Amino acid sequence: MQPMALHQSLPWYHPAGKECELFERAFSLHLPLMLKGPTGCGKTRLVEHMAARLGRPLVTVCCHDDTSVTDLLGRWLIRGGETVWQDGPATRALRQGAILYLDELIEARPDVVTALHPLADHRRTLFVERHDEEVSAADGFMLVVSFNPGYTRGLKELKPSTRQRFMGISFTYPDPEEEARILTGETGVDAAMAKRLAVLGNKLRGLKELGFAEPASTRLLVNAARLIHAGMAPRMACDTALVEPLSDDADLLRGLRDLVRLAF
Ligand SMILES: Nc1ncnc2c1ncn2[C@@H]1O[C@H](COP(=O)(O)OP(=O)(O)OP(=O)(O)O)[C@@H](O)[C@H]1O
Ligand SMILES: [Mg+2]
Repeated sequence: MQPMALHQSLPWYHPAGKECELFERAFSLHLPLMLKGPTGCGKTRLVEHMAARLGRPLVTVCCHDDTSVTDLLGRWLIRGGETVWQDGPATRALRQGAILYLDELIEARPDVVTALHPLADHRRTLFVERHDEEVSAADGFMLVVSFNPGYTRGLKELKPSTRQRFMGISFTYPDPEEEARILTGETGVDAAMAKRLAVLGNKLRGLKELGFAEPASTRLLVNAARLIHAGMAPRMACDTALVEPLSDDADLLRGLRDLVRLAF
């Protein structure tokens, strides 16, 4: 039997709980949504899946500390001697009634985040100062943001006046049974192999005292499973896809490879 993910045109997402229902509810009630969780746990995949399921275009912006209000809203350009206005991704998403997904919003500068406030409350508008225009959200528009609270360790935080405009969903890595289903659905690797990988991933996450910046993500396990499904020996697949991305420390790498050899 072909795993589901290999059949469907919809980006495949295996729910951990009620996040698809919550997303749908937020969409229909015009509430912006905040997704919080560690790297590679399915935040982006959920947004891709829901955008397709709701039949909305998806406009994604990866925020960083150089992202400016102009980058998001638009700018004047000179074309053939004329000045022409070019919408930024946020303005475009508003006009199209798209899902605007601001990834790593926490990395954006405070002035950028504050400029989004009218978009994230009942007004659902953005004032595009440079174009002297107030743009209202077309039907079907939704604002979704995501970030990883673990990275920032309290250095960067969204202001309460920003946070309190959003509904929120917290993500964690799934337990091994569910994660094995994701590995099979995503890569086609057989159930027994998926389970062994998921158990190994779970074990690595338990080694908190080793001080990884981030624990082994579902993304890493998916990459290992993909290599195994393509015919690579499990040890080599885990060494390259799972162990190497976790650390550069030679002792630690040796220890992690030993764990792989115990699992396979
Ligand atoms: N629930 C899930 N259903 C299907 N695939 C999943 C799920 N969770 C994780 N994955 C797999 O893990 C990969 C990484 O997930 P995703 O890109 O959504 O992570 P993320 O949470 O957005 O991470 P980051 O914060 O680093 O951007 C996906 O490409 C997919 O293969
Ligand atoms: Mg992501």
